[in-house]
Amino acid sequence: MTNTSIMALPSSILTAILLFSRLVSSQMDNAAECSCFRTNESSSGYFTNHRFLDYRNVAPVPSAVPNVITNITNATNALATSDFFVDSDWTQDWTVQNWNNSDSMESSGATVLMVNSPNNVYIEKSTDNDPTYSTYLTLRTARLPGFQSAAEIDSVEKDYHYVSARFFARVTGSPGACAGMFTYLANDDPQKIQEADIEILTKDPRNAVQYTNQPSVNAQGNILTQATANTTVPFVRDWSVWNVYRVDWMPGMTSWYVNGQSVANIAFQTPRDPAGLIINMWSDGGSWTGNMSLYDEAYLQIQWMEVVYNTSGPYTGSSKRDVGFGASGTLEKRKGTPGCKVVCGIDEKVNVTGTPALLYNNTGMAPMGWKGDGMGSMVWIPLLLVGGAIFGYF
Ligand SMILES: *[C@@H]1O[C@H](CO)[C@@H](O)[C@H](O)[C@H]1NC(C)=O
Ligand SMILES: *[C@@H]1O[C@H](CO)[C@@H](O)[C@H](O)[C@H]1NC(C)=O
Ligand SMILES: *[C@@H]1O[C@H](CO)[C@@H](O)[C@H](O)[C@H]1NC(C)=O
Ligand SMILES: *[C@@H]1O[C@H](CO)[C@@H](O)[C@H](O)[C@H]1NC(C)=O
Ligand SMILES: *[C@@H]1O[C@H](CO)[C@@H](O)[C@H](O)[C@H]1NC(C)=O
Ligand SMILES: *[C@@H]1O[C@H](CO)[C@@H](O)[C@H](O)[C@H]1NC(C)=O
Ligand SMILES: *[C@@H]1O[C@H](CO)[C@@H](O)[C@H](O)[C@H]1NC(C)=O
Ligand SMILES: *[C@@H]1O[C@H](CO)[C@@H](O)[C@H](O)[C@H]1NC(C)=O
Ligand SMILES: *[C@@H]1O[C@H](CO)[C@@H](O)[C@H](O)[C@H]1NC(C)=O
Repeated sequence: MTNTSIMALPSSILTAILLFSRLVSSQMDNAAECSCFRTNESSSGYFTNHRFLDYRNVAPVPSAVPNVITNITNATNALATSDFFVDSDWTQDWTVQNWNNSDSMESSGATVLMVNSPNNVYIEKSTDNDPTYSTYLTLRTARLPGFQSAAEIDSVEKDYHYVSARFFARVTGSPGACAGMFTYLANDDPQKIQEADIEILTKDPRNAVQYTNQPSVNAQGNILTQATANTTVPFVRDWSVWNVYRVDWMPGMTSWYVNGQSVANIAFQTPRDPAGLIINMWSDGGSWTGNMSLYDEAYLQIQWMEVVYNTSGPYTGSSKRDVGFGASGTLEKRKGTPGCKVVCGIDEKVNVTGTPALLYNNTGMAPMGWKGDGMGSMVWIPLLLVGGAIFGYF
């Protein structure tokens, strides 16, 4: 198919093609033989897609951390800190942000102009005494004269409709910053934003982590205590060392884990509609983050992320009005055989971090009627049949 004919297609079909090609590439992400992925614990579920994003041994290993840019314009317009962030391996998953909060300072109670800078997103050479990684991804925030320089990356894909996301991360640096890892569906009305959050405040005790289904305050500005859980990192660990933070956004309930240990479950206000993922390290001098002292810095560092998810709606997200199933959803219903052929686990039996383990192989079995094989009542459509259905549509 030529580019010209792709361009001529209706956007809904184009979305379906992009979705399909993405599904295939996700499937190929070190789990080519798996047709679905199972998570463990009380929020266990099955998912169609898997991504493992590994920043542990990025080559070439960078020699130095980029210097903080002290000029607002230059910080905003900064280029990527290395080729790594220009390569499609990165850009297919993340967009590095450079927005500032000048429009929302008043409404959000910020006291400091915050500027997201691509210069604060970089691969850092490890000086830790651990041979399992030589690099990691760093998001930096720094308080400077006149502004707070911050870091944010947003997922390109914004059609996650239920997800289990894991981040092997640590937070270091000065008080006054917030490290965030969360699902996000924007809305102009702050009361209609949907988020399932992991937040670590550097002003808080070193073992305190906060989990929230946003919004955490109502329209009158009162705190919704049911939306939030303040917890501690289990096993006397703290957030300055590496921990696996896991958020399971499931229908009707968000569940959080640290190093496989359950830490919170919140049903109240669980996000409903397809969303993206955001990771950030920021401060705005408001009452939530507090202030950072001038020239102080803080860092969110990530060795790897693993995400299993389903999708619905347009790949790059919906406006609130057209949330729902796109062309692929309709087509999926039209064709396909129920059943997930090869079930892989991303928790159970995993020996190599990020590599799903085979749990059940139902290939060659009758599509219906297998019981006690761990599939429950899951109705599944093999990806290749979905693809066939999409291409059969033309
Ligand atoms: C900002 O960038 C300009 C070039 O675009 C450069 O001349 C200037 O020195 C930079 N300022 C700072 C403070 O880095
Ligand atoms: C920042 O750099 C721009 C040019 O890149 C310059 O016009 C501006 O005056 C600088 N701002 C400050 C505060 O130095
Ligand atoms: C903040 O962002 C807006 C919109 O992109 C831009 O017009 C404005 O110049 C930025 N403010 C500063 C201080 O860079
Ligand atoms: C959680 O802790 C924060 C301070 O870090 C506090 O503002 C908030 O009220 C607490 N929430 C609950 C539900 O206890
Ligand atoms: C679930 O999997 C995690 C690893 O991802 C593990 O640490 C945890 O112990 C498992 N939970 C149970 C109940 O087996
Ligand atoms: C942060 O500092 C500003 C002054 O620079 C002050 O107005 C504001 O109240 C401070 N915020 C907090 C949360 O202390
Ligand atoms: C994991 O390791 C164990 C022990 O070495 C081995 O028996 C098992 O087959 C491995 N599982 C996978 C999925 O590789
Ligand atoms: C599943 O079983 C089929 C048929 O027995 C076999 O061809 C395939 O390689 C198996 N897949 C895996 C991942 O073991
Ligand atoms: C993901 O999609 C599969 C196939 O439609 C479905 O069986 C499964 O329950 C979905 N998972 C979640 C968490 O909704």
